Amino acid sequence: MKTYLVTGAAGFIGANYIKYLLHRKYENEDIKVIILDALTYAGNLGTIKDDIDDKRCFFVKGDIRDRELVDRLFAENDIDYLVNFAAESHVDRSIEDPQLFLSVNILGTQNLMDAARRAWVIGKDAQGYPTWKAGKRYHQVSTDEVYGSLGAEGYFTEKTPLCPHSPYSASKTSADHFVMAYRDTYHMPVSITRCSNNYGPYHFPEKLIPLIINNILEGKKLPVYGEGLNVRDWLYVEDHCKAIDMVVREGREGEVYNVGGHNEMKNIDIVKLTIKTIHDMMEADKSLRSILKKQVKDANGDIDISWINNDLITHVPDRLGHDARYAIDPTKIKDELGWYPETKFADGIVKTIRWNLDNQDWIQEVTSGDYQKYYDMMY
Ligand code: NAD
Ligand code: DAU
Repeated sequence: MKTYLVTGAAGFIGANYIKYLLHRKYENEDIKVIILDALTYAGNLGTIKDDIDDKRCFFVKGDIRDRELVDRLFAENDIDYLVNFAAESHVDRSIEDPQLFLSVNILGTQNLMDAARRAWVIGKDAQGYPTWKAGKRYHQVSTDEVYGSLGAEGYFTEKTPLCPHSPYSASKTSADHFVMAYRDTYHMPVSITRCSNNYGPYHFPEKLIPLIINNILEGKKLPVYGEGLNVRDWLYVEDHCKAIDMVVREGREGEVYNVGGHNEMKNIDIVKLTIKTIHDMMEADKSLRSILKKQVKDANGDIDISWINNDLITHVPDRLGHDARYAIDPTKIKDELGWYPETKFADGIVKTIRWNLDNQDWIQEVTSGDYQKYYDMMY
């Protein structure tokens, strides 16, 4: 039996990871999963409702910075794997409130690692380094943004020097440095994955792809920062979850693994493709049009969708310090663990749009209240 403590699993990627863990089938493996999440604006209990109904899964509401709480979780459970997703994750919000990012992303990471250290260290070796219970692992879910920005050529490898530009990426970089410092200073069993941009179900609509989908359904303009020429490397979230699972269980201790699917696209192209895909889906299946907020009848008496076109795009002021291009070289995880991205973008974007169409209640829930204030402030 393996016991996982998964932090931040009421958010986008963490929730997808929990679903992946609970539905994955490995012979002879029994698991227990404890979720620790503070349920910030980005965390939603509804996202993991079915998962916490599973008798192998337990939810604890709390902050990763809370020493007493995290120590108690370790005291009450024989935790094998701590997988840390919990973070403030949105670059634009980090520009508004950098200190929150520093506090959660850096101090939170350090608090979790210290609790693991208190629970997992069993003695000292001849040189004075701590010795650890066997089979334990602290895994940090990190990002390609720690590497900074690329020009038109080249890829981020695990050896690329860390060079963050936003308060968000500076905080994630600092957390990564702490993870490596604990590896070197205490011989802590750690690993890190650095992944590119994810998309898929349960993606919070402050981020580009779900924001564009949601705005089209609401008949709103589509804000593109600057010229929209910045490049991101998009990966379907389930492929990321699979990579984390492989690294936690089979990845070499103390190592960093880059995760990405060689799917680089300019923002403007992503936005245009999303517009076209929604238009085509609604052309093929007229019943989907009833979801649209903007209800105008065309000459045939059908709900008009001719306005779902590139004229919806509006260019807004650029993000401060906007990184030009991210692109991951995933050779290491492919060669060592046999990971590869299974979902082609053309399929993933259709699945993602379909999920958004089918889960309007979830969208309403997460975009009500404070999100509206944030949206009005931003756009
Ligand atoms: P998210 O914002 O959707 O979810 C974050 C979760 O963490 C939420 O459930 C929130 O309630 C929780 N949380 C925040 N502060 C907390 C605290 N102090 N204590 C406990 N829980 C707290 O984020 P996401 O997009 O799912 O990203 C998850 C992780 O993956 C982050 O560490 C992020 O840096 C990393 N990452 C994200 C992407 C991406 O494209 N979204 C890509 C690479 C890496
Ligand atoms: O690369 C991994 C990172 O991807 C993660 O570490 C972050 O947690 C995650 O939020 C994401 O960061 P980005 O800043 O790349 O994602 P976002 O969806 O915010 O923006 C994607 C691109 O689209 C970026 O170049 C900014 C642009 N953009 C974004 C928004 C929200 C727009 O043009 N308009 C928008 O309204």
